[in-house]
Amino acid sequence: MSTSRRTFLKTVGATAPALLLSKQSLAGRGMGGGGGGSVNAPVFELPLNIPPLAQPTGTDSAGRPIYEITQQDASVEIIPGLQTGIIGYNGMTPGPTIKVDANQEIIVRQINNSSVRTTTHLHGGHMPAGFDGHPVDYVNPGAYKDYYYTNKQQPATLWYHDHTMDLTGDQVYAGLAGFYLMDDEYERSLGLPSGDHELAIVIQDRTFAADGSLVYNDTIMGELGDTILVNGTPYPYFEVGTARYRIRILNGSNARSYNLVLSNGARFVQIGSDGGLLEAPVSRASLNLAPAERLDLIIDFGDSAVGEQIILENTAGSGGTAQIMRFDVVRVEDDPSVIPQVLRRIERLNPADAVQTRRWVFGMRGGPMPWVINGQPYNEERVDAFPRLGTTEIWELVNRTGMMHPVHIHDIMWQVLDVNGRPPAPEDAGWKDTFKVPPMGTVRVIGRFDDYVGDVNEITSAYMMHCHILEHEDHAMMTQFIVVE
Ligand code: C2O
Ligand code: CU
Ligand code: CU
Repeated sequence: MSTSRRTFLKTVGATAPALLLSKQSLAGRGMGGGGGGSVNAPVFELPLNIPPLAQPTGTDSAGRPIYEITQQDASVEIIPGLQTGIIGYNGMTPGPTIKVDANQEIIVRQINNSSVRTTTHLHGGHMPAGFDGHPVDYVNPGAYKDYYYTNKQQPATLWYHDHTMDLTGDQVYAGLAGFYLMDDEYERSLGLPSGDHELAIVIQDRTFAADGSLVYNDTIMGELGDTILVNGTPYPYFEVGTARYRIRILNGSNARSYNLVLSNGARFVQIGSDGGLLEAPVSRASLNLAPAERLDLIIDFGDSAVGEQIILENTAGSGGTAQIMRFDVVRVEDDPSVIPQVLRRIERLNPADAVQTRRWVFGMRGGPMPWVINGQPYNEERVDAFPRLGTTEIWELVNRTGMMHPVHIHDIMWQVLDVNGRPPAPEDAGWKDTFKVPPMGTVRVIGRFDDYVGDVNEITSAYMMHCHILEHEDHAMMTQFIVVE
């Protein structure tokens, strides 16, 4: 694929979002991105938004529930008193939360009533080839696509988001992201905090212009905002009782990593990661979270007094990005919940079973598409691997740059074998789909390509691997593979 073609795609696709996102000149804003936003969002003044649950609107001929979601341009109040143009699922950001049980097949009908063409990817989902939201499997304005999700996997914290060729960063930043939470009978039987003691939060950084519009510079190093949104609300507060809460955290930021701590010095208990529950809970003082990673946590407010206010802080940030949200302890409660010491048995994949080892080198070169894998920018006509159905492979993710890349692989969940030659920390020892590959470092992961094959003549049946710093992905640190018989 030639550079000119990519540039053409970018220009065509960018026409409409330009109406929604004010692109300020890089000259005035520096390559680091962010900074200099002219709007001060209120801090700890707005309640946490809980996105509505999507409800099925019918069933298909096989009895599968159909969920209909409409992508649309909308104007919403994020900063009090100002209107912000977004593109949102059902006109909101984050979109409605889809909740399903593992193995319950569903159809999500994505209706594109927005001004831009889209594709929708279910991040962390294991679904038949062709429904993965391939970057060029476009849904044009006025059209829709039925995404068929089998949910044949362990329950986990997933999210759906835009994945359009060259414009994923633009369109996720504009608002196209939402939760997709999976559960099962077993998990419900564990006695973990549930009901109003269970919530999911997505952390995103954004920059707002003085008129309230989103500022997106498409900064090639990675777009950084100066204002924190949690579930679409700037620096919210959330009222809690003196009990344990199960809180899933998604880093839905385009490029920013966080290091989260609690202002009262309390520890988190991590019970899950990208691919679902860990084998056993892990006590952690701080949480380093790269874009697209998920954590399933227990935060225990049982030792707090009514009136206490506990801030979720980001020690990796400064100024407007040093604080995330606040928990306000407002009532005394009994706590019937438990944290079992065995959460879920995890089948360990054995390196001796691997039939292939592939090496993927994440690097940088000159030009407009500077981010490369094995020396090459993404080309939708090139497939770089054809793993065989049912086989186990080891993938070596090698970083030849001075910055961390959160590498994400579609289709299956993986286990980390080692990071720079050392076994993973316990919190990274479960199933994962996104891996922090350290600067000049190597992460080795092992996975098995179960269930679904693609068609070598149909490019949209490919699954992607890319850096989840979305501007790296768009500037073309991405590759694709097709699973074959
Ligand atoms: Cu969350 Cu290929 O993306
Ligand atoms: Cu994904
Ligand atoms: Cu990257």
